[in-house]
Amino acid sequence: MAPRIIDGKAVAAKVELETAEGVARLASRGVTPGLAVVLVGEDPGSQSYVTMKERDCARLGIRSFDHRLAASTQQAELDALIDRLNADPDVHGILVQQPLPKHLDVEEAVARVSPVKDVDGFHPENLGRLMRGLPGPRACTPWGVMRLLDEYGIDPCGKRAVVVGRSLLVGKPMGLMLLERDATVTTCHSRTPDLPAMCREADILVVAIGRTKMVGAEYVREGAVVVDVGINRTDVGLVGDVDFDAVAPRCAAITPVPGGVGPMTRAILMSNTIAAAEVQTR
Ligand code: GUN
Repeated sequence: MAPRIIDGKAVAAKVELETAEGVARLASRGVTPGLAVVLVGEDPGSQSYVTMKERDCARLGIRSFDHRLAASTQQAELDALIDRLNADPDVHGILVQQPLPKHLDVEEAVARVSPVKDVDGFHPENLGRLMRGLPGPRACTPWGVMRLLDEYGIDPCGKRAVVVGRSLLVGKPMGLMLLERDATVTTCHSRTPDLPAMCREADILVVAIGRTKMVGAEYVREGAVVVDVGINRTDVGLVGDVDFDAVAPRCAAITPVPGGVGPMTRAILMSNTIAAAEVQTR
């Protein structure tokens, strides 16, 4: 049977409608939600993400505060900017785009952002809240994956979920979110022996490894749900970590790249910004 293609654009549009309702709710109380985006350096991928985030803000009626800093920016300067944004009542969400240039301390930057303004869900307090099962801002990409599963009626409860990749941005929080929903979770990474065999155990396979088309048919059990978090820039455009054409015929459902997880990350970021504004102006 042909797989269901999980349409991230359509679900992102639905999330945006909810966000627009949130913007209207805040407006009725005289509040305009604001998101500050901090980009250090000229990484082209990061520049295009940040530009798209700013467009999303404009479309939804969220004020965006754009801070593009030179690659040579020093830690003290970045810290001072984060402190100013933390203190600014017009800024409800702060996103420091990763990766930062190597000479900067990402741990310092992430921990410096006020936890209530941490729309990325990366602050140690918010990751701790996720670990403890408490509400709080959740990392946009894995939270977007959970929303996609929910929208397509894919219940992780009792399923075997395999996450490939253990980054703090995706893999680790993804595993915790699937566990919170009662999946049996395995997190794999570059040192996992016989990765294809491990992945073939999965009812739900989430791939976030950053290697173009690494996952072929031999990684996928017949009838699995495959979620491709990869966004690799190649000469032929954006390509995922999953070899879609090879894998799709085996799947019950699969996310395409582009048009799968990507649009969800930004939609959840906007939704997290509204939630942050609501918490801060209650
Ligand atoms: N770089 C890649 N994805 C993300 C994200 O979700 N948030 C931030 N801050 N940086 C990223």
